Amino acid sequence: MARKKLAVLISGRGSNLQSLIDAARSPDYPAQIALVISNRPGAPGLEHARRAGISTVTIDHETFGKGAAGKSKFEAELSDTLAQSEPDFVCLAGFMRMLSPDFVARYDGRLLNIHPSLLPAFKGLNTHEAMIAAGVRIAGCTVHFVTADTDAGPIVDQAAVPVHSDDTAQSLAARILAEEHKLYPACVRLLCEGQAQLIDGRVLLHKNAEEKPSNPA
Ligand code: GRF
Repeated sequence: MARKKLAVLISGRGSNLQSLIDAARSPDYPAQIALVISNRPGAPGLEHARRAGISTVTIDHETFGKGAAGKSKFEAELSDTLAQSEPDFVCLAGFMRMLSPDFVARYDGRLLNIHPSLLPAFKGLNTHEAMIAAGVRIAGCTVHFVTADTDAGPIVDQAAVPVHSDDTAQSLAARILAEEHKLYPACVRLLCEGQAQLIDGRVLLHKNAEEKPSNPA
């Protein structure tokens, strides 16, 4: 079967991008990364892509001006650039811009994100601090489809980790990040192989995909 095409959108470090790059090196991985786009010039993740021989484009949101007009021009450029690589899925991986409902609708069922919490708990930013402050015992990460409501789209899959009493936001973030690096490539695999399907606003996993070893540790 032909490998599906991914575009990955980043803003910074790019460790999740790297995990997708590593997964896609395997000949049996059902997807390849066609393009990496950063909205930040000099994002370290761009270097990961270049080293892997993947095309990169920087679309600096700041050059399009402020307000709704600037956002709409930025998104038009993003759409045009994405269209050239005809991705089956667009993976947000630490992409720090809110996308408009119009943009999201254009990629309905093809736009994925990874979020460092067990959604629907702890949406938004600073999740690790918020989880420590709330005293939760189990934390984790979620890969979900992006919809107009932030961090609220259909969940593809999740991974859980324990929270220890001496955890700081940093130590918890590191434990979750290690799971993110497994979860994102695994979810992309499920979707590309048709083992996970978005049906009526929910992601249904086929039986063998449900039987994965689960967590928490
Ligand atoms: C990750 O924690 C991800 O869950 C969140 O942003 C962070 C990006 O990290 N959306 P990286 O750039 O992939 O290293």
